[in-house]
Amino acid sequence: LIHRFEATRKNTVYLCEGLEIEDMVVQPYAEVSPPKWHLAHTTWFLEELILNKNKNHYSFYNEKFRKLFNSYYKCLGEHWVQGTRGTLSRPTVNEILEYRRIIDELINDLAIKEKENSAFSQILELAINHEEQHQELMLMDIKRILAENPLHPVYQKTNQNKIISPLTSNQRCWINISEGIYEIGADESQFAFDNEGPRHKVYLENFSLSNNLVTNSEYLEFIEDHGYSQPKLWLSLGWDWVKKEKIISPLYWVSPNEKKAICEFTMQGLQPLKLSAPVSHISYFEADAFARWKGMRLPTEAEFEVCAVKNKGLTDVFKSQLWCWTKSHYSPYPRYKTFAGELQEYNGKFMCNQFVLKGGCMATPKGHYRNTYRNFYGPEQRWMYSGIALAKDEI
Ligand SMILES: [Fe+2]
Repeated sequence: LIHRFEATRKNTVYLCEGLEIEDMVVQPYAEVSPPKWHLAHTTWFLEELILNKNKNHYSFYNEKFRKLFNSYYKCLGEHWVQGTRGTLSRPTVNEILEYRRIIDELINDLAIKEKENSAFSQILELAINHEEQHQELMLMDIKRILAENPLHPVYQKTNQNKIISPLTSNQRCWINISEGIYEIGADESQFAFDNEGPRHKVYLENFSLSNNLVTNSEYLEFIEDHGYSQPKLWLSLGWDWVKKEKIISPLYWVSPNEKKAICEFTMQGLQPLKLSAPVSHISYFEADAFARWKGMRLPTEAEFEVCAVKNKGLTDVFKSQLWCWTKSHYSPYPRYKTFAGELQEYNGKFMCNQFVLKGGCMATPKGHYRNTYRNFYGPEQRWMYSGIALAKDEI
């Protein structure tokens, strides 16, 4: 566990190696956090929830960091307003790297002392998983930060191919599932976030799920068929969003009205749109409208999970690519219990006005995703690596 901890902590810093120091502080939107903040917040998590709980009379590295790098844990006192994280030029990146180094040493020492303590192992496991979540968030945020810049900075040269690989799409086949009672959700046999359990039964009607993601080429057909201008295709809130925000294409498309000039901002900078690649950075509203235009629908989270369990290769296809929107509201499973103590704020309090995404994505750290995993975002959000997997009722 301690080796995994060390490797995970190192990897977070490694992900910043493609950045200049100035990239580390920018916050173009309230929902985007500067990379520097991620480096500090994941360290704050270790101090507040491990060191302070397990060491007698623990003295914090810097009392002021407790407020600056608390994300949203109201039980743990005040926190800095999320939308103003980019206003903090201090502590510097180097000071935060030193903060990480000192706290990692303390965690290492404590882990050796507590190696027989299963409660300690559980919280360390959670801290590793928390750090992994922030690695993915950081990659989303980095893309959004760089995309805002008219110079279209390159995070990574294509041939490095170490973190974000270009998308590819396979031929569409349909996976048929017959009606019946199935079980979904996490049991207690391995680590899972509280929102993934308890394991429970669901009834599914006959349905089919596509084994691939909708491509840019298919999405372009939707646009050329005036998909963004046909109110009948859209949920009411989605239509309001399209009009208010003047949405005419996926988030990172540039000049979508001139077919020859369509480009897409990627981690390799601005690139010609690859028509055969899956369409990415799509909101729930867009995914839902596209599926309706196609005469199909989005899968439910239970359908997606049952399909993934029955078809082992399916998850491999999706998790190296994009999260798939499901039409399931992010709600507690029957008999759901939050984590105990301050950690009850980890997931449960966000179970309102969001939808579940399944499948993982190319920015998800290796080994982090499970079939029971429930990612969640608001229906208008699209800076995460999201895409569309289609479902239909007939088999
Ligand atoms: Fe966090």
